[in-house]
Amino acid sequence: MSKLTEFSVHSSNTCNSKVSPTETRKSNPTVTAKKIAVIKGDGIGPEIVTETLKVLDKIANKYGHTFEYNHVLLGGVAIDEVGMPLPPETITACKNSDAVLLGAVGGPKWDFGPGHMRPEAGLLGIRKELGLFANLRPVKLFSALANACPLKNVTEIDMVIVRELIGGAYFGERNTFTDENGNKVANDSMTYRDFEVERVAKVAFDLAKKRHNKVISVDKANVLDSSRLWREVVAKIRMDEYPNVELSDMLVDNAAMQLIHNPAQFDVIVTENLFGDILSDEASMLTGSLGMLPSASMANGGFGLYEPCHGSAPDIAGRDIANPLATILSAAMMLRLSLNMPNESDDIENSVNAVLDQGYRTADIVGKSEAEKCKVVGCKEMGDLIVNKL
Ligand code: IPM
Ligand code: MG
Repeated sequence: MSKLTEFSVHSSNTCNSKVSPTETRKSNPTVTAKKIAVIKGDGIGPEIVTETLKVLDKIANKYGHTFEYNHVLLGGVAIDEVGMPLPPETITACKNSDAVLLGAVGGPKWDFGPGHMRPEAGLLGIRKELGLFANLRPVKLFSALANACPLKNVTEIDMVIVRELIGGAYFGERNTFTDENGNKVANDSMTYRDFEVERVAKVAFDLAKKRHNKVISVDKANVLDSSRLWREVVAKIRMDEYPNVELSDMLVDNAAMQLIHNPAQFDVIVTENLFGDILSDEASMLTGSLGMLPSASMANGGFGLYEPCHGSAPDIAGRDIANPLATILSAAMMLRLSLNMPNESDDIENSVNAVLDQGYRTADIVGKSEAEKCKVVGCKEMGDLIVNKL
């Protein structure tokens, strides 16, 4: 099986308090222990992260590494325990780590607070604090899961969505007020600066060079000023620095349709924050389930936060039926992109592939026509199967 992503922002790897995450750092070959900040979060977060730590422990054991886990709070559980979604200790601990592993945050319990007191504010806050501007979401259909893909006759689906992660509407000015006519008004502004587009475009072009050399930049330039700037900057970067990479532009509404119509045309998609959020959930279904999609959120210098693209799924939390594979595959991305352990990363991806090939499935990835042939397992058992395969 080909690797989920061959890409790294830079080769070095630590993020500590002396060096900001946006600078390139030198790795120290004498230090073998890697510090990983672990955020279990809410809903199914604790279950899927627990399985992933079992997998990382097996990797440590097999390859002679030491992983030091520093468990920290974020999201709803942080609101409950310390009264805020992003405690300052969490920011410090993440900055003092080589990488961050995250489960998921959010849940109905915290849905009614003001925006800054919601679990999601903690997630957006940590992304901003760590400078994680490029979110890589590899969308790859494992051959064993072809039956779980809702499209007919799919051959290959293998693309990476590069989502800008710390700009646009999620970080623009916003307010809610009553106007002079007594109407309630809510406002979110979508702002992009040229350098914000530039740096994420470079990530996409670098990635394309290691894949099939093709970038599709998705925007809404027929309507939005921010999209017209996006398109202009992406084209200029390509002309100046990546003349051999094929670039085309696609409007976001067309892209939403093309993902279903002809997903094989996509290699690397680069797009702004809101569009990337929506398109990546859509694209995840092509892999059979949102429960299969890992992600890496990268700063300059190779530092990253690794989390599944799915949410905290509070409706199935605590029932041992969640799919841990997106988080386990996120850990594989962490080994490859931040910890410089490509063989270990391959080992995890191959194990996932092998376990799926043997017919083991969590409930979300059982294809309709293959129900009798496959063995449905819970979250823990899926974790154990991967560990035993390693
Ligand atoms: C994601 C999630 C988050 C986002 C939410 C939980 C704030 O949907 O990572 O895609 O919108 O970025
Ligand atoms: Mg999302």
